Amino acid sequence: EDNEEVGEEYLFKIVLIGDSAVGKSNLLSRFARNEFDTNSKATIGVEFQTQVVEIEGKEVKAQIWDTAGQERFRAVTSAYYRGAVGALVVYDISRRTTFDSIKRWLEELTIHCDTTVARMLVGNKCDLENIREVSIEEGKSLAEEEGLFFMETSALDSTNVQTAFEIVIREIY
Ligand code: GTP
Ligand code: MG
Repeated sequence: EDNEEVGEEYLFKIVLIGDSAVGKSNLLSRFARNEFDTNSKATIGVEFQTQVVEIEGKEVKAQIWDTAGQERFRAVTSAYYRGAVGALVVYDISRRTTFDSIKRWLEELTIHCDTTVARMLVGNKCDLENIREVSIEEGKSLAEEEGLFFMETSALDSTNVQTAFEIVIREIY
């Protein structure tokens, strides 16, 4: 078939959620631009980046939305979640409080999104093994309990970043 399949284009909205400083913005910049910022500032409002991923020979556009973990910097919540078909729910393996917040983030997701949204629990900063506060087993079992995919990542050294996003995108596709 040498006809170009014009118009057959996929655009998937994926949201990043989780407490402040867990590394949401750096996961996105690592995925979209292969960049990491040691001195990144807290996000204010909403940002997004579009990344083209090839799945089964088709170009899929993933539009990934990033917002502030800090309540006072957050934009209108319902608009942020509107139309999302995937979500990465992120905590920091070196700060237990961020793991304890996961249930609250999942509740917010449930309120604003369809139950069919593809969800992945992400334990970021797995490079910080020496100061780990949340074990892999704890992450896994919470994910099983809640019916989520699970992956530990490092935006710093790139571990599993591509994979985490791609699993969610494939699940949507
Ligand atoms: P908010 O925008 O406030 O919600 O924070 P955020 O979740 O976007 O966090 P951000 O990406 O800004 O990262 C916070 C801090 O953690 C920064 O100093 C990053 O350099 C650092 N960081 C992010 N990812 C990693 C990682 O995988 N490993 C390590 N060691 N540090 C990381
Ligand atoms: Mg941010």
